Amino acid sequence: MPPPHPALSPIANDGGEGKISIVILASGRGSNFAALLAAQQRGDLPIRIRALLSDKSAAPALDIARAAGIGAIALSPRNFSDRAAFDRALFARAAEFRPDLIVLAGYMRVIDAAVVNEWHGRMINIHPSLLPKYPGLHTHARAIEAGDGVHGASVHFVTAQLDGGPVIAQAQIPVLDGDTPDTLAARLLPLEHRLLAASVDAIARHRIALGTHGVECDGKPLVAPLCPQADGSLRAVG
Ligand code: GRF
Repeated sequence: MPPPHPALSPIANDGGEGKISIVILASGRGSNFAALLAAQQRGDLPIRIRALLSDKSAAPALDIARAAGIGAIALSPRNFSDRAAFDRALFARAAEFRPDLIVLAGYMRVIDAAVVNEWHGRMINIHPSLLPKYPGLHTHARAIEAGDGVHGASVHFVTAQLDGGPVIAQAQIPVLDGDTPDTLAARLLPLEHRLLAASVDAIARHRIALGTHGVECDGKPLVAPLCPQADGSLRAVG
C-alpha cells in the first residue's frame, strides 16, 4: 500500500466530535455535493464538508459552496505545465483542509497516478454505471445501446485505474422501453444522491474501509457491492 498523505489523520479523529472532514471535488452542476451538504445540514451524516474544489471556474458547484459559506476554490489546468503539476497543486489545496476523505462528485478529470496513490483509501468517486461495466464517459447511452435491462451507479475507492477501484456500493434501476440517455440519467440521479450519502455515512461510521485485499465491511472482506436501503443504510443483498 502506498504511504498515506502526510495531512491524513485517523478517520473521525475530529476533536472528539465524531465527525469526519470532507473535501469535495466537482467539475459541474454539483447536485451530489448539494445532496451531501443537505444531509450534513439536517444532521443526518457525521461529516463536516470543509471545501469544494473545482477545475472549472464557472462550475455551479462553486456557487453552492459559496452560498453555504464553505471554502470554494477553482484552479485552472491551463495555468499549469502538465497534468501532474495541476493535480499536485489542486490536492495541496485540498490537503490544507486536512480532510479525512476526498469525495469526487462529478469531477471530470483523470487524476495523476502518484497523486491518487497518496490518497489511497481516502478518496471515493461516484460513477453512473454498474461498474465494472462502462468506465469512462457516456455511460447511459452505452447501457441503452447494449440493450441492458438494468443500469445504475457505483461508489468506489479511487485507484490509478480510471473508474476501476474497489466498489463499495451500487444502486440499480431498470432501463425502460423508450429510455434515452437523458431520461435514464434523470431517473438515476436521486438514487446517486442516496447512494453517495449512504457510502459516506458508512465510511464516517467506520463500517467501510479499504483493506489490503479490497473493501472491508465491518472488518470482513466485502464479497459484493452493498445496496442503499430506504433508511439510508447500506446492506448486503442476495
Ligand atoms: C453524476 O452523474 C455522477 O455520477 C457523475 O457525474 C455526475 C455529476 O452530477 N460522476 P452532479 O454534478 O453531482 O450533479
